[in-house]
This record gives sequence, structure tokens and C-alpha cells, in this order.
Amino acid sequence: MLKIGNLTLKTGKILAPMAGITDFPFRMLARKFGCELAFVEMINCRSISHKSVRTKQMLSSHPKDRPLGVQLLGCEDKFILKAIEVLKGYKFDLLDFNAACPAKKVVRRGEGASLLKEPEKLHELLKLIVKNSPFPVSVKIRIGWDEHSINAREVALLAEDAGVKALFVHGRTKAQGYSGEVNYAAIARVKAALKIPVIASGNIFSNELAQKMLSETHCDAVAVARGSLGNPWIFNAGAPIPAEVIKVMAEHLNANVQFYGERVGVMKFRKFVAWYTKGWRKVRQLREKSSRVKKKEEMLALIENCRL
Ligand SMILES: Cc1cc2nc3c(=O)[nH]c(=O)nc-3n(C[C@H](O)[C@H](O)[C@H](O)COP(=O)(O)O)c2cc1C
Repeated sequence: MLKIGNLTLKTGKILAPMAGITDFPFRMLARKFGCELAFVEMINCRSISHKSVRTKQMLSSHPKDRPLGVQLLGCEDKFILKAIEVLKGYKFDLLDFNAACPAKKVVRRGEGASLLKEPEKLHELLKLIVKNSPFPVSVKIRIGWDEHSINAREVALLAEDAGVKALFVHGRTKAQGYSGEVNYAAIARVKAALKIPVIASGNIFSNELAQKMLSETHCDAVAVARGSLGNPWIFNAGAPIPAEVIKVMAEHLNANVQFYGERVGVMKFRKFVAWYTKGWRKVRQLREKSSRVKKKEEMLALIENCRL
């Protein structure tokens, strides 16, 4: 059992936020396989607005899509407060603040992982968010900017002091991006220093790697990210036969079309074809064709063809 503020998790199976991925259809599929806590895609405080279709789509949910966290990206009080105002019109279980995103256009503006270089500023922002948020607050960090400036423990202690109820840590530096080794020791130091729950991410591609993360870092839970792409079975340790994968692909596609409409739903599904069929033989043609398909029926036919 894992407690984050007044939120109690039974299994502690967590889907990490992934921009462009963890939309409503993806989350519901993950939940069907046992994911307990999920997050909506990261939302930039500057671009969030009451009226935009994109914001509404990102924030839209369903009572079955719970518990659910929302994640904000930003670095200016004004925009952060504006975003919190918009969020007040919705119901979430957790508000996570992003101090981990390594994307160039993000760190260039002083947001995301860039805040690891300014722990005092991050401290102030977190205090502001905790004070104003209608939901319990957590923060997502990396272990540092680069290998010469690993400061996750210092940042984490400041975050705890600011009143966040949980800390998510990706065990890589900003400089590493998404490759290279996960620094288990740095996560372990964070965990040892804090009283609030620490949830770790980094290469959770299998049950074994989840266990390794837990035993090496003593963290309270792990959050699955890339390990869930085309693989909701990661939540129930299942080993699907191709026929099951094909069935789930069709389900995922149908859910996308229902949520986004046919054109956007099919387009957003394209990237998943390669993930679902990873390791399969003779899928080059399928991947090429699926990257051009526009109609749901065409995509379904391509998927069905995988059986042959
Ligand atoms: C496509 C993609 C998008 C991501 N978007 C976010 C995001 O919006 N917010 C966030 O905190 N982390 C984001 N992440 C980071 C993941 O949540 C996770 O911390 C990271 O991928 C490490 O876990 P992994 O090695 O198991 O994938 C993203 C990762 C990927 C691959």
C-alpha cells in the first residue's frame, strides 16, 4: 500500500506521464491490465486555456480513469497560477510539477530539467504550487543536469520542505536524455533522505527490472514509461501470443477513433504499430503501410493481416 497525501494506492502500479502518449485511450487500456495510477500528458502552463480544444481533450477523463494525476510544466508564477485556475474546473488526484523534461525548447525557456540548475527557484515555485493547488502536489525530477552536477538529494529535500506529498525521480541526468545507465545509487540517496514516498523511473521494461529498481533503491514504487509502449501486459506480467496482441491493437485503435474521430485517431495510432509488433518477423511492410493509412478499416485490415 502506498499513501500520497490523502490518496491511497493498493497495488502501486503506476504509469508515468508521457507527452504525446498517455492520452485517455492509452490510460484506459493500461488500467484494463492493472495500472492503478496514471497521468495525463504534460501540460504547458503557458498554453493551457479554458477554451482550447487541445486543453479540453488533454484534460478530459472519466470516473473509471482514476486515480489520475495531471502534470504541469512551467517556470513563471503568473502562468503557473493561471494553469492552476483552469485545473480547478476539473477533478484530479494529484498535481505533478515537471522538473525533468530534457527537451531543448523546454530547457531553453528555463522549464523542466533546467530547474535542477536552480534548486532555490524550484523550491519557491513548489511552495507557490502547494499553496494554491486544489490537489496534493508531487514533483518529477531527474538526478541532476549532468554527471558533474548530480544534485537530486539536495533538490528532493527542498521539494519535501516545500510541502510536496511525493517525489518522482527518473534515474538519469538531463544530459543523458533517455539513454545510458540508470543511476540506482543516486535514487537510493534520495530515498534515504526523504520521509515522503519516492517513486522511481528508468528502464522499467520488465518485472525483473522493476524488482531491481525496488531492491537497489528501496524506493516506494516504480513508474512504468517506455516499457508500456505497445505492451500493456507489463502491468500484469503477461506474455501475450500474437493473436492477443492483434486483438488489443484493434481495441486500442477503436478507442482512439472513438475519442479523437477517425482522421486524428488513426494518425495517433500509427506510431503504436511498431511498438506492438516489436520483435515480430516480416513486419517491415506493415510498418511502412501503416504509416500512411488514413482510414480505420484500412488500419484494421493491416492489423488483421498480421495473423497470416
Ligand atoms: C515519449 C516520452 C514522453 C515523455 N513525456 C514525459 C512527460 O510529459 N512528463 C514526464 O515527467 N516525463 C515524461 N517522460 C519520461 C518518463 O516518464 C520516464 O521518466 C522516462 O522515460 C524514464 O523511464 P523509462 O526508461 O522506463 O522509459 C517521457 C518519456 C517518453 C519516452
